[in-house]
Amino acid sequence: MIYSVKATCAARALFSLLVFFIVTSYNIEARSGAPRWWSLAMVPPDGVLNVKSITCNSIPGLVPKQHRYCSRKIELMPSIARGIKLGIDQCKYQLKNRRWNCSTLPLRRSRPNRKKGVFGPVLETASPEAAFVHSIAAAGVAHAVARACAEGSLTSCGCDKRSRVEKGNWRWRGCNEDVEFGIKVSREFADARDQGNDGRAIMNRHNNEAGRMVLRDKMQLKCKCHGLSGSCELRTCWWALPDFNEVGKKLKRMYLDASEMKVKHHQEARGIVASLVPKFQEFPPPQETDLVFFNKSLNFCNKNPRLGIEGTKGRLCNATSSGVDGCDLLCCGRGYNTAQKTRIESCRCVFEWCCDVECEQCVTPYEEHTCK
Ligand SMILES: *[C@@H]1O[C@H](CO)[C@@H](O)[C@H](O)[C@H]1NC(C)=O
Ligand SMILES: *[C@@H]1O[C@H](CO)[C@@H](O)[C@H](O)[C@H]1NC(C)=O
Ligand SMILES: *[C@@H]1O[C@H](CO)[C@@H](O)[C@H](O)[C@H]1NC(C)=O
Repeated sequence: MIYSVKATCAARALFSLLVFFIVTSYNIEARSGAPRWWSLAMVPPDGVLNVKSITCNSIPGLVPKQHRYCSRKIELMPSIARGIKLGIDQCKYQLKNRRWNCSTLPLRRSRPNRKKGVFGPVLETASPEAAFVHSIAAAGVAHAVARACAEGSLTSCGCDKRSRVEKGNWRWRGCNEDVEFGIKVSREFADARDQGNDGRAIMNRHNNEAGRMVLRDKMQLKCKCHGLSGSCELRTCWWALPDFNEVGKKLKRMYLDASEMKVKHHQEARGIVASLVPKFQEFPPPQETDLVFFNKSLNFCNKNPRLGIEGTKGRLCNATSSGVDGCDLLCCGRGYNTAQKTRIESCRCVFEWCCDVECEQCVTPYEEHTCK
């Protein structure tokens, strides 16, 4: 009797433990900041992203919907991976002089850091940084997919034929890069993990969409002239994707201007549902095209291994700048070290008839400042 009661208790305990693990591991994937599948983009410099190098089972952190998508549309996966890389590289470029410079974890051997994701725990906080990275990654996926379509390397898409209107002496002969198809793929794949009704899922979906809308907005009409000696009697025009730097520049401005929200819970028939409302009532509610966040930025000044923050110690800074790249701000008031360095430059160049330029090599001194 006693024995059987004990056994039931043990079984119950085991069962609850199991449920606990399933629930928490699900939550970790569903809630954590940066999706682990982004590690798809982290190939070593000599690595390649093609259908042969990607298998759906080897991508970490896919939710079932993404796994099915991957199996059905494997030919899109290399472009999705390239899109994430495009986004992350652009993030690094845009934030290179800031306290948080979009740093990613080092590649371990040839495998990316699969457990912690590309960024580590930094983006688990619903911060402006998380908003920026999500928006730029979602835009990157749409861009890379649309580009691959126009290059003719995919069977499921090509040039966009919808916007081929002929007007006056215009001819739509070029290949319209199909941004709508890219946007659709980005929505279906990149948003799949964030289908929940918690604040973070809503935030991620919103920022992903804001990134894609910037890309759509920046599509440009390109034309080529034909006709006698460049008279432009006839023009061939097509819609072209913007240079991704343009998208990055705009998203960075939106990041610096992102709207702070708070999470509000209310009861609905389907259960407790969250929504994001402006934290400060005196500000107008954000537009669809604004980035939103609900946790302040972390303190990126000091090293914090638990949060995966490197701190700014040792970063190069500009002693004469009063901006974010200046030593005052970047070093968070700790001061900086100055090292005397030299570099070899070409100098005293003379033009030799004809047609050579002869230079001397000069040793030029300069100062290098790093944060204490
Ligand atoms: C982020 O904001 C949410 C909602 O306001 C809050 O519950 C949570 O504690 C915050 N997290 C951090 C790390 O500040
Ligand atoms: C970015 O920041 C990290 C950590 O602070 C630093 O190690 C790295 O050199 C920085 N990268 C660039 C490009 O400045
Ligand atoms: C440092 O900042 C000053 C002032 O903003 C700028 O003129 C200069 O080019 C910067 N130096 C470097 C090395 O970026």
